[in-house]
Amino acid sequence: MFTRILVPIDGSEHATRAVDIAGSLTGQDGVQLTLLHVLTHAGGYSVPKELQAYAKVEHIRVTEKDLIESVGREILGNAAQRLRDQGVAGVEERLESGDPASVIAAVAEGSGADLIVMGRRGLGDLGGLLLGSVSHKVAQAVDCSCLTVR
Ligand SMILES: Nc1ncnc2c1ncn2[C@@H]1O[C@H](COP(=O)(O)OP(=O)(O)O)[C@@H](O)[C@H]1O
Ligand SMILES: [Mg+2]
Repeated sequence: MFTRILVPIDGSEHATRAVDIAGSLTGQDGVQLTLLHVLTHAGGYSVPKELQAYAKVEHIRVTEKDLIESVGREILGNAAQRLRDQGVAGVEERLESGDPASVIAAVAEGSGADLIVMGRRGLGDLGGLLLGSVSHKVAQAVDCSCLTVR
């Protein structure tokens, strides 16, 4: 039914549920599943002191960007492994940076995704919101079907 499924993930439990559901939709041959993580390099976070100290001893330079990127790769790698464990092969991993909702919508468009599966909420802690801002914006911005997983 759906042939190009895009799964934007932020490392949250909600997104992990989205990964599992997307995986279960890949039963037929020829379904391409793409995991996407969007790095948000806000500049507002600094590298933890302990890590800086470690880096100094080891003579390596750790920037905030390095850290965020490695966490992003970790998020993608873990989700891809989770899918492989469920027997889903050929998963594509994409790491991009920018405004998450805009990047997700642009990747969906550019890759011809016909379904986006994402968490209804993410890592944010604004408990009063019904939908997270990313899932809300993406659902508004794209033409393809969108499944927000609870
Ligand atoms: N940086 C990101 N990269 C990729 N996907 C994301 C990102 N942030 C959020 N998402 C997706 O959007 C879903 C909803 O998250 P979000 O709208 O940010 O809610 P919240 O406000 O609770 O964080 C997540 O479960 C995930 O699927
Ligand atoms: Mg969020």
